[in-house]
Amino acid sequence: MTKIAPSILSADFAKLGADIAEVEQAGADYIHVDVMDGHFVPNITIGPLVVEAIRPVTSLPLDVHLMITNPDQYIDAFADAGADIISVHVEACPHLHRTVAAIKERGVKAGVVVNPATPAEALYPILPDVDLILFMTVNPGFGGQTFIHRVLDKIRKVNQWRKDLALDILFEVDGGINPITAKLCVDAGVDVLVAGSAIFNQQDRKKAIDEIKQSVSK
Ligand code: DX5
Ligand code: ZN
Repeated sequence: MTKIAPSILSADFAKLGADIAEVEQAGADYIHVDVMDGHFVPNITIGPLVVEAIRPVTSLPLDVHLMITNPDQYIDAFADAGADIISVHVEACPHLHRTVAAIKERGVKAGVVVNPATPAEALYPILPDVDLILFMTVNPGFGGQTFIHRVLDKIRKVNQWRKDLALDILFEVDGGINPITAKLCVDAGVDVLVAGSAIFNQQDRKKAIDEIKQSVSK
């Protein structure tokens, strides 16, 4: 079954605990946490303190997406704060196997993220070592952007490699996900859908989650 990971980037930060509890009740499978440093991406968001603060609020896995330069420096801090998955960008990691190994050494699941313009081939050497691949379907930095359709070709290509190599890896997408784009991604091989504005900007978050789930079950 396809999993839903609401991105708290679009939540109300003044009542973050309540917003997380609401989406957990509404059927979310993960909580997606967007960490931005103002260097790797233009925006600045949250750090390990916020991850630590929300850890006791939910029993869902915390899916931490690091959009930062030099992520190696912060793996311990996010692991200590309670991250269950830590994903790092290929574009920010000159020594990717070393970084992935450092995440796993902390007993945390390791994810690798690719921006829309980064080719599938950048993932091939790391595939057997990761728990999750996160395909960005927008350029990271902000919520509410438009889905880039061409990324679907890349997902299909990596999905073929996943099959050929019989690897047990989750595929996740992030950016511009709504009931229509969700279906396209799942058809291409995606297991986990991150959605920010399509869930938190809606009055009825349960209805928003249900609509995405229904669209991909057809
Ligand atoms: C974008 C972030 C996303 C963002 C998605 O840089 O990584 O997780 O919250 O927002 P939507 O779903 O609104 O495109
Ligand atoms: Zn994200």
